[in-house]
Amino acid sequence: MAVDWSISFDEKIAPEGLPNAATIEAYSKFHKASIQNYREFWAGIASEIDWFRKWDKVLDDSNPPFYKWFAGGELNASYLCLDRHVKTSRKNKVAIIWEGEPMEDGKPKDVRKLTYNDLYREVNRVAYMLKNKYQIKSGDVIGIYLPMIPELPIFMLAAARLGATFCVVFSGFSADAISERMNDAEAKIVITADGAFRGGKTIDLKSIVDQALEKTKTIRNVVVVSRTHNSVKMVKGRDDNFEDLMKGIPANVQVEPERVKSESPLYVLYTSGTTGKPKGQVHDVGGYMTLLHATMKWVFDIHDHDVYWCMADIGWVTGHSYIVFGPLMEGATEVMYEGLPVFPEQNRWASIIERYGVSVFYTSPTAIRGWIKGGEQWVKMHDTTTVRLMHSVGEPINPEAFRWLFRHVGREMIPFGSTWWMTETGGIMISHLPGLMMVPMKAGTNGFPIPGIDADVVDDSGNSQKANERGYLVIRNPWPGMPLTIFKDPNRFAEVYFSKFPKIFYAGDYAVRDSDGYFWVLGRADEVIKVAGHRLGTYELESALMQHKAVAESAVVGVPDDLKGEVPVAFVILRQGNVASEALKNELKETVRKSVGPIASLKDVIFVSKLPKTRSAKIMRRVVKAVAIGKPPGDTTTLDDEASVDEVKNAYAQLSSEVGNPAQ
Ligand code: WT7
Repeated sequence: MAVDWSISFDEKIAPEGLPNAATIEAYSKFHKASIQNYREFWAGIASEIDWFRKWDKVLDDSNPPFYKWFAGGELNASYLCLDRHVKTSRKNKVAIIWEGEPMEDGKPKDVRKLTYNDLYREVNRVAYMLKNKYQIKSGDVIGIYLPMIPELPIFMLAAARLGATFCVVFSGFSADAISERMNDAEAKIVITADGAFRGGKTIDLKSIVDQALEKTKTIRNVVVVSRTHNSVKMVKGRDDNFEDLMKGIPANVQVEPERVKSESPLYVLYTSGTTGKPKGQVHDVGGYMTLLHATMKWVFDIHDHDVYWCMADIGWVTGHSYIVFGPLMEGATEVMYEGLPVFPEQNRWASIIERYGVSVFYTSPTAIRGWIKGGEQWVKMHDTTTVRLMHSVGEPINPEAFRWLFRHVGREMIPFGSTWWMTETGGIMISHLPGLMMVPMKAGTNGFPIPGIDADVVDDSGNSQKANERGYLVIRNPWPGMPLTIFKDPNRFAEVYFSKFPKIFYAGDYAVRDSDGYFWVLGRADEVIKVAGHRLGTYELESALMQHKAVAESAVVGVPDDLKGEVPVAFVILRQGNVASEALKNELKETVRKSVGPIASLKDVIFVSKLPKTRSAKIMRRVVKAVAIGKPPGDTTTLDDEASVDEVKNAYAQLSSEVGNPAQ
């Protein structure tokens, strides 16, 4: 089957002056050796980070697919990010340059620069407070619902210091999403803020938490950080103001970093999918930190003189790994920005690059598409020539977006890659590697699996797919940074990731490997929707719709969008006695926004009388999607469900005649 990709494989870009320019053969040889002996390979990397106690066994694989990396080893993630640096000349180096969103007289109103020593002190004070005021200890789960302010990484590091597990919920999620996650994670306490600034508006986070807590049984206390200073309701005996709690805790108080086992849980982060409730991905300490150490060096080529900026929100895995633990472990100076990259004007992001002299830049296709729309004049207002290396993440990067940033910031000469990974992998798996050795770039490709990672593209039977043929992306070996399990649901972990192809990790993406060996991840093979690079499960959206009394059944699918990559569209069957109307459409859209959060904005609601089903009564989502896009489904039926080509064709004809191809 020929694959329809829009980037020519012939287009190679070989930037000048690359570090360690390598041939594909040289890299392949190195990679092959690393995966043949991946245990020893990763042990070598792990010995570059500090351990309180060295591991007994590199990999405990006695109970697959539940692997323990560096079993018997003891370390602490907050020690790696802080204590190590304050003992060196990095002590007074700036760790985080934080810029708030509001502007005043053409300048950012709130800027905070925290040195490694500042961060060390704050994390110690917060850990002290959590331990003494709330008796937080190893094994407890701390919920965090904070905007992009320095207290977010501070609380994550403080939890890690105590050996507690944290669970961050993205601050764009709604009350229902918070309570579902907090209940599942059995969080004891939640940290939030009075509000958040976003796009010039103030979002009242505290009242969202109050609503969530009506349905969250395990939470005993709420800590409220001041950011917007709007008035919030405080519940006596339950809610405490962060500044009040910290008063009187001396600046030099010290809390010993807990010696935690390599395989103990550092955090739980939820991903939503197509079936069932969100999955709590549990990440360990030893394997995770080892993978971050390697990728910060190989992928971002991080050095002491760099100013690094990852534009993600810490509420997603990109921020966990590549704003908090990765760059801080490496002692980098990094920018952390609170708000929208195009507020108050299109040039905000470029002005940040110029203001701080950003040299390593990690961004996303969605952001770039927005800048293209705004026009290149905005980036031209600023000197962005300090940038020496860039990467993108979140979804496949389209050639226009790649070329635009490569031209306007990359000067058509610096390395610019598209790093493939996912919440489950903990860190980057497939990427260009400017800090190790760099093969010629191709516009928009993901590059090669990183050393120690045996990624492959396979056919339905799990055999390696031929070059240039579409298949499923898998990882054949266990890797440091992989999830320990799905929180409280090990069976589901084995089922979702290790049952489609026995013993190997199924990523859920379609990919192609070209004849030079470069990987091109094409998008999800399941019905997970990626809105602006964020993963939205159809299950959560459909459950939200079911909350409305007029809805009998629904199917949500993603359709292409110029800006966000994909947006959700709902097909809805109404209960008897309800009449389709514009007003009802809007009501349903509002129901979903309220239930999941503002990121879950339905583009459209289409009322139908029937949804196409397979013999086993599964909705034929591919058919629904084809109708939503107005393009017949292909002939590749066997890939996804048990329906025959004719059944799919008939179902398509039926549904599209009913809705009349809404996309046209
Ligand atoms: C899914 C994982 C990992 C950080 C952000 C997303 C897609 C991610 C790329 C890329 C093509 C990509 C995949 C993957 N994806 N990066 N560079 N090229 N696709 O994490 O929310 O867990 O989503 O994002 O479809 O499965 P996530």
